Amino acid sequence: MLNELKSKIKDKTANIGIIGLGYVGLPLAVEFAKAGFTVTGFDTEEAKISHIKKGESYIPDVSSKDVKGLASSGKLQATSDKKSLNKMDVIIICVPTPLRKTKEPDISFILAAAEDINANLRKGQLIVLESTTYPGTTEEVILPKLGGNGLKVGKDLYIAFSPERVDPGNAKYKTKDIPKIVGGITDICTELARFLYSQIIKEVITVSNTRAAEMVKLLENTFRAVNIALINELALACNKMDLDIWEIIDAAKTKPFGFMPFFPGPGLGGHCLPCDPIYLSWKARNHGFEARLIELAAEINSRMPHYIVDKIIDALNEQKKALKGSKVLVIGVTYKKDINDTRESPALTIMDSLLEKEAKLQYHDPLVSDFQVDGLKLKSIDLTKENIGSSDCVVILTDHSNVDYKLIVDSANLIIDTRNVLKEFKGNSKIVKL
Ligand SMILES: NC(=O)c1ccc[n+]([C@@H]2O[C@H](COP(=O)([O-])OP(=O)(O)OC[C@H]3O[C@@H](n4cnc5c(N)ncnc54)[C@H](O)[C@@H]3O)[C@@H](O)[C@H]2O)c1
Repeated sequence: MLNELKSKIKDKTANIGIIGLGYVGLPLAVEFAKAGFTVTGFDTEEAKISHIKKGESYIPDVSSKDVKGLASSGKLQATSDKKSLNKMDVIIICVPTPLRKTKEPDISFILAAAEDINANLRKGQLIVLESTTYPGTTEEVILPKLGGNGLKVGKDLYIAFSPERVDPGNAKYKTKDIPKIVGGITDICTELARFLYSQIIKEVITVSNTRAAEMVKLLENTFRAVNIALINELALACNKMDLDIWEIIDAAKTKPFGFMPFFPGPGLGGHCLPCDPIYLSWKARNHGFEARLIELAAEINSRMPHYIVDKIIDALNEQKKALKGSKVLVIGVTYKKDINDTRESPALTIMDSLLEKEAKLQYHDPLVSDFQVDGLKLKSIDLTKENIGSSDCVVILTDHSNVDYKLIVDSANLIIDTRNVLKEFKGNSKIVKL
């Protein structure tokens, strides 16, 4: 059984199924298909399936040229028919892991995927969970769902966890360049998963079990979230002490060891940093341990959007204007630069608050044409001298590359720069930095 699957992987005849064709699943599917495997993507969103069939990419990091070529050669297929899971030799789960309103992990998507696999399970399959989740998910959720079929894990069926580390918008490190971590339920599961990923990824690192692999990802993202909270806190402190946090970071990062720069901003966003540390602290609490630093970091980061709103109010006040009735033009609504992902973006909280305070709100984002804030549908406006000049305040929330910042500086009355993207215009009195 093991050797059969190994040789199928080796000669690329193993059928690979990927559940969830989003920011993680589609690049991974394309990578396996490019390596010569026949890959079937499974998604519940019909629109995504039809895009793949038409050879169109909806993820900026994946080119439509690649999708078109692979779809027309039959190497990349897409379906919502879960019965075909039975034909897969390898199944990789890349579904969302959001938080519930109560700030508890929502693993319902993982559960649904596991149920679909279980309904179509057959001997000899390798199942890998890639969704970011708390330590124990693979053992406590996936294993009981699939292990109840009389199939012995490590002999008839192989189960592993391998965290996805893709960084959307990062032109330097793509899926294939980022070392992959794997941990299996048994050593054989680990080895098989390692062998699978080594077909498309240069470096694969094994850890002792699935819980360790799950924890690696949470360490990485919690490390970022906590350090961002520290720098956000220091930005607020510097503001009180009349110091420029950006200047301080630039100087500190000249130290060649023992320091790594993190930057303040309007708040965390995306599917990872606002959620993943909470998965960890929730699980730690279940074990009777309070992860206080992680909770505090989440609290500090979640206050940043409100701090930005206060900053806008103060800056307008200096110009003898009230926020109520003022025209505010937001630049960038995605949670980070050069991507089109607005999930959990701090722009949502900031713009919601501006609307609540009756500002007249507009936005420009080169990558997002429509944006909904509290039921109000907004459309990205053109970045023209007139649109900028007629605004009382321009607020830069995302530092996209493809924006004419000189035009903004030349035409605006007041600018709140939350990303220090205008650093070359130092000393300009209409620019207020975070
Ligand atoms: N986006 C990132 O930068 C990133 C990076 C590393 C890890 N992750 C993790 O990877 C996982 C996926 O994130 P993402 O950003 O790709 O999410 P996404 O929302 O972009 O994609 C998930 C896809 O899964 C589909 N889906 C949901 N339930 C399904 C089901 N039962 N069957 C089939 N398809 C289903 C959705 O329709 C969607 O297309 C999450 O756990 C996330 O935390 C994300």
